[in-house]
Amino acid sequence: MIILAALLAYILGSVPFGYLTSKYLWGVDITKKGSGNIGATNVYRNLGPYPGAITALGDVGKGMLAVYIGSLLAGERGALVASFFVVIGHAYSIFLKFHGGKIVATTFGVLIMTSIKVTVVVFFIWLTVMLISRYVSLGSIVCGLSIPLIMLLFGLDWSYVYLGIFLAVMIFYRHRDNIKRLLSGTENKIGTRKKG
Ligand code: G3P
Repeated sequence: MIILAALLAYILGSVPFGYLTSKYLWGVDITKKGSGNIGATNVYRNLGPYPGAITALGDVGKGMLAVYIGSLLAGERGALVASFFVVIGHAYSIFLKFHGGKIVATTFGVLIMTSIKVTVVVFFIWLTVMLISRYVSLGSIVCGLSIPLIMLLFGLDWSYVYLGIFLAVMIFYRHRDNIKRLLSGTENKIGTRKKG
């Protein structure tokens, strides 16, 4: 049952809501626009609030659903395994030749199912850094790195802290192009439509 939880989570995580919404509802290949990312930020940046919101809801929702299915199949261990695999699916999608997104929205879906307290604090960190710096990516990187620390702060079991460390590393790694752009001063700021 654990293997089934992992497999279903991976397939669910692989569903690229941003790519599908952009391509089939708005007729645009989002991988060729802006930063090229399939996430809600790039969809919003290039196509506007409605496709951006659909993408965010889809990516958060699949994270939640995968963890829920994992828990039904194999209890707490199933939920934990699904948490890892839904994120891997989003980053290395079977439907996009193992390319994918930067996992932030899907991570929030996983966090919602793991701990609401952790979710609220991590979301607040993301929002604060993003609004002050005007960089969504910086908000994502800082909030990603904060996840294991916030989990420790709230006394979550070590198995979840390991999940948090994995999410932090993955978010950091998936933002490596953003980090280069941040360092060179060419990163997209909120409100601009500069190419990534
Ligand atoms: O969640 C993705 C965000 O942190 C960065 O997106 O399109 O600016 O690379 P983007």
